[in-house]
Amino acid sequence: MIVGIIGSGAMGAGIAQVAATAGHNVVVYDNNAAALEKAKKNLAATLQKLQEKGKITSADDIMQRFSFAGEVSAFADCGLVIEAIVEKIEVKKAVFGEVEKVVSADCILASNTSSLSITSIAAACEKPDRVIGLHFFNPAPLMALVEIIPAIQTDVALIGRMKELMLKWGKTPVIAKDTPGFIVNRVARPFYGEAIRIMEEGIADIATIDHIMTSVAGFKMGPFTLMDYIGHDVNYVVTETVFQSFFYDPRYKPSFSQKRLLEAGWLGRKSGRGFYNYAEGTPSPDATSDMDIAGYVVDRILAMLINEAVDALYLGVASAADLEIAMTKGVNYPKGLLAWCDEWGAANCLAVLDGLYEQYHEDRYRASPLLRKHAIENKKFV
Ligand code: NAI
Repeated sequence: MIVGIIGSGAMGAGIAQVAATAGHNVVVYDNNAAALEKAKKNLAATLQKLQEKGKITSADDIMQRFSFAGEVSAFADCGLVIEAIVEKIEVKKAVFGEVEKVVSADCILASNTSSLSITSIAAACEKPDRVIGLHFFNPAPLMALVEIIPAIQTDVALIGRMKELMLKWGKTPVIAKDTPGFIVNRVARPFYGEAIRIMEEGIADIATIDHIMTSVAGFKMGPFTLMDYIGHDVNYVVTETVFQSFFYDPRYKPSFSQKRLLEAGWLGRKSGRGFYNYAEGTPSPDATSDMDIAGYVVDRILAMLINEAVDALYLGVASAADLEIAMTKGVNYPKGLLAWCDEWGAANCLAVLDGLYEQYHEDRYRASPLLRKHAIENKKFV
């Protein structure tokens, strides 16, 4: 099967590399000739490095499977086309419409969107049943997780076919309902949002929260370091999009602290400043040595994360097994959140949330009905 990729940016090039390495001939299309040229050079350099490291046998063999095109007509013989262009619904809809004119009737059309509804993209197509979400993580060649998202119009047989294909590509697929943020970008929100809230309330500073979440809770990066690493142009925008898409559910409310960073152009590591200042010679702020607050910070952020995972399970966003895979493979959490809840005890987690709800009287802290049920019945999730 020939695979088509629309968009040769960070994600398109990465997905193209994965498909070609798995043995497919790959057609990469971009409407920006310079971007296409850059992708071609970068792919050749990346494959050369992989060959030197002994990870692949022949960079040339893989490179020969690529063709680069400035016209959608190049997709004519593709069996699967994956779109990874700018995150704008109208642009995506228009491109899907164009592609549909040149591909065969059984060509599968996939979108790598992080935040748009697959159903709305499918609705722009003449054959919406062939449209599906394939959400890779950045960098696509290194991150194992792929969220498969059927639109409400998608032919159900496609789900199994895509799952099989992703396994062949060496990926770890999970299936997510077409809801805002799918699995990872929804369930991970409190890791950022609750940490910021704790900081804004003056309970602990960023260095202390980061220190606690890594050394006590076992996360690879603290929330502020991670947000700076992802970039506030990406992380804040995802938060705001998820918040709007959930009809302004206060659980996902963005923060002014992060919005101001974005407005200032303090995008994080890539711009030299975010929550932290990365300018040479600037000392990193120290975490307080008083760790009395550690238990409170971990319990609060963890309870919010677990509640989000449990609620996603309750609302049928994904199976329990897929939720666990998504959070450990997609964002490298030290444990699946449902298993973490079982270990901690649903009743203990619920007590933290109910305590916060009692204190703040904010809907943000409402516990999922499923968490409450498990706490009452003393049941486990996994
Ligand atoms: P990017 O900005 O690096 O690349 C986008 C590419 O699409 C550019 O080369 C651009 O020239 C091309 N393009 C734009 N409009 C086009 C059109 N009408 N026709 C053909 N080509 C067009 O963007 P990136 O980061 O690769 O993201 C692409 C998609 O992947 C977005 O939907 C994004 O939400 C999603 N995504 C991004 C992730 C990330 O961490 N960057 C992670 C997972 C998904």
